[in-house]
Amino acid sequence: MTQDEMKRKAAEAAAEYVVTDAIIGVGTGSTVNHFIDVLADMKGRIEGAVSSSEASTKLMEERGIKVYDLNEVNDIPVYIDGADESDHYLNLIKGGGGALTREKIIAGASDKFVCIADESKLVDVLGAFPLPVEVIPMARSYIARELVKLGGRPVWRENFITDNGNVILDVHDLQILEPVKMENEINKLAGVVTVGLFCNRPADVLILGAPEGARTVMPKTA
Ligand code: 5RP
Repeated sequence: MTQDEMKRKAAEAAAEYVVTDAIIGVGTGSTVNHFIDVLADMKGRIEGAVSSSEASTKLMEERGIKVYDLNEVNDIPVYIDGADESDHYLNLIKGGGGALTREKIIAGASDKFVCIADESKLVDVLGAFPLPVEVIPMARSYIARELVKLGGRPVWRENFITDNGNVILDVHDLQILEPVKMENEINKLAGVVTVGLFCNRPADVLILGAPEGARTVMPKTA
């Protein structure tokens, strides 16, 4: 089974978390694109969606799903999104698609965060996937120097501008043993918009697509 077929399995399994008559939070990426197909088949059962990117908005509107501005919405019972890595506590690295800031906002505004991924995304320690950091353009070099001090090797994602008009530094060579501490340390640097560590608000449920089907992982307790 291909990685994409495993992503599809996870997306299909997420259908059971869709809340009838509600506005659903929708993430970004190739796994979520499968989920948008699933959601389109159920669109009569939901009121609509809030979207974490221009790309997901376009896809949902093409499929007839009503997309609301987050400012119009009071209650999001569930947010469904992919990840680049998850540890066993469901701390995540996200932002491979560059949508990390809007993703983190919607994750924070939602009651439940269901992460969908293929099984290769589950790791013991975060950091093999380069950690994305969204940065205000004028702060790029300054933040890169600060990220080096934290032990990383930042690489500017060239020819890429986020939906918010900012740039991304992808930080290589990190072994993230204290994810909450790392999230807080990077977040507090002036010029950082968002770091792609989702640990202060991790996922609540992880659905992993695998050749034998989809399995649900709950966060390990310390
Ligand atoms: C986008 C993200 C994605 O969820 C993450 O990159 C996973 O993408 P994919 O489902 O394509 O593997 O964080 O900003």
